[in-house]
Amino acid sequence: MENFNNGIIVVTGGASGIGEATVRALVTRGARVVIADLQQEQGEALVAQLGSQTTFVRTDVTCEADIQAAIACATHTFGGLTGMVNNAGIVGAVGSIMETSAEAFDKTMAILSRGVFLGIKHAARAMREGDGGAIVSLASTAGVMGGLGPHVYTMAKHGVVGITKSAAAELAPLGIRVNAVAPGGTVTPMTNALGDGDLEALTQSIAAGSPLGIPCMPEDIADGIVFLLGEHSRQITGHTLVIDAGATTGGQQTPFFSQQAATLLHAGKREAG
Ligand SMILES: NC(=O)c1ccc[n+]([C@@H]2O[C@H](COP(=O)([O-])OP(=O)(O)OC[C@H]3O[C@@H](n4cnc5c(N)ncnc54)[C@H](O)[C@@H]3O)[C@@H](O)[C@H]2O)c1
Repeated sequence: MENFNNGIIVVTGGASGIGEATVRALVTRGARVVIADLQQEQGEALVAQLGSQTTFVRTDVTCEADIQAAIACATHTFGGLTGMVNNAGIVGAVGSIMETSAEAFDKTMAILSRGVFLGIKHAARAMREGDGGAIVSLASTAGVMGGLGPHVYTMAKHGVVGITKSAAAELAPLGIRVNAVAPGGTVTPMTNALGDGDLEALTQSIAAGSPLGIPCMPEDIADGIVFLLGEHSRQITGHTLVIDAGATTGGQQTPFFSQQAATLLHAGKREAG
């Protein structure tokens, strides 16, 4: 198991879902973690549970001063910054592009794009004062192809993939790696809020849509984030790790994978010949 005994890591959106699972995974591996989230009660409850390896800072990722304060908390409380997870997110504006308001666009982009930009900017500034570090941002399968999320969400998540490559190129000489994780549908409060709140039904429907037939849980995504933060990925930067049970490979069963298709193709060739 990856050792994070010298790890000091800020996790935005760390009070819920994928962020919370990441906080738990990091603490188990010895890291000290700043949970930076809007949800104060939930964040403080998590700190009460996990103990003095963690602290909570109420943070709005759209606010530059808040991001700076969360990172300053890591350096003052724990003595530095080795990792940053830009995870906070919302679904944001939904519906037809023809009906989406500019205000809803701005609000969604502020959290999903501006928040990630600010996280990378200020984490890099803190990390260059130390021995470098690793930054991981949450993209989505909606960030690698169309049709998997609402318009603005899709645009913002493609942006996360882009800034990950761009920032990785600039920051590599400083020993700072920048990567992203792109989850497919994962069982979290965010996805649960899209339905009628029935967690079991959500879990089953995510499993049913998975090429591997198993539901993706927040811990599955946290494993990818932990890998990209840790020593075992020291050669990897600028990369987006898709964690989606193969959904975006086009790997769903198609008629071309059947024996019957091979026979038909063979027959077609004979006729053509
Ligand atoms: N759940 C999925 O299926 C899925 C799939 C792909 C990508 N993602 C991405 O993973 C990330 C985490 O999503 P989740 O499903 O765990 O959601 P979640 O709702 O469980 O957690 C998101 C957290 O972000 C916090 N947050 C929202 N706006 C914030 C702000 N302005 N400042 C600070 N914190 C804020 C919320 O309070 C919450 O604690 C998001 O970036 C999301 O887009 C999720």
